[in-house]
Amino acid sequence: MRIFSGIQPTGKLHIGNYFGAIQNMVKLQEQGEAIFSIVDLHAITVSYDAAQMQERIRETLLDFLAAGIDPKKAIIFIQSQVKEHSELAYLLTTVTPVGQLQRMTQFKDKSQKEKTVNAALLIYPVLMAADILLYDTDIVPVGEDQKQHLELTQDIVRRFNNRFGEVFKVPKLQIPENGARIMSLSNPSRKMSKSEPEGCIFITDRPDTIQEKVKKAVTDNERKINFDPQRRPALANLITIYSLCEKKKIDELGLDKFDGHAQFKAALAKSLINYLAPIRKRRLELE
Ligand code: AQP
Repeated sequence: MRIFSGIQPTGKLHIGNYFGAIQNMVKLQEQGEAIFSIVDLHAITVSYDAAQMQERIRETLLDFLAAGIDPKKAIIFIQSQVKEHSELAYLLTTVTPVGQLQRMTQFKDKSQKEKTVNAALLIYPVLMAADILLYDTDIVPVGEDQKQHLELTQDIVRRFNNRFGEVFKVPKLQIPENGARIMSLSNPSRKMSKSEPEGCIFITDRPDTIQEKVKKAVTDNERKINFDPQRRPALANLITIYSLCEKKKIDELGLDKFDGHAQFKAALAKSLINYLAPIRKRRLELE
């Protein structure tokens, strides 16, 4: 079994990256041939500081290793050092309709944030398809935000193979049952994202920083602590994070014991700090 996944060197890794993708990557590296990439060519599709890129790649690598990606079990590489990624991406654009790329949620979302939308941002998902297809990948562990891009990859395979014969394998998505989409702590209607650091808990945050961020996390005015994603999405996001750190299902958390948000948030901060402590320790050692 071949596994492929990539992370952009756009900043420190956060708990969304960790629970959405890295945790599955760490598990899967035990089960098959794992190939993980720091996808710098993706990171240059939006505004960036060229002088900082090498440092960001290094930081992403250190975060990767600290989070449990093991170079003895997985191949780790920098995307731009393997020129076949760009070459295959170009070939795949010839079987990809522009209309389908323009309908991608991430493209619409990111275009709104950019002064000038470049063509690379539009073809980002085709480059992602090339990343995956180059290695005859079976499984792609990613967060839910990448589901649409993976479906596009599957479409590209079907179109390409229909025209040229059975060249590529159809890859399968693997997203976690819990934690596939962690939302921002400052704006729970948006996903936690490196490009919006104010809503992130980074996997290497100091304990006092975590406490402060959790304290400030947006919630609502109701006192009761219960899991109701439709009506109380901000609180539901915090409960999801709590259940991941406690390694328990939501109905096993005993949420009734909490008397108000302050008490719940204190328990959440403590749980996050404990959960992330070994990662932070390892990261400091590696540094
Ligand atoms: N909030 C999230 N919840 C669950 N999974 C997530 N992933 C990203 N955000 C969440 C998954 O992490 C992997 C790496 O994604 P990325 O490098 O694109 O990370 P990002 O945090 O989304 O960073 P950026 O650079 O700031 O990008 P934008 O602005 O696009 O969000 C992927 O598997 C992703 O699904």
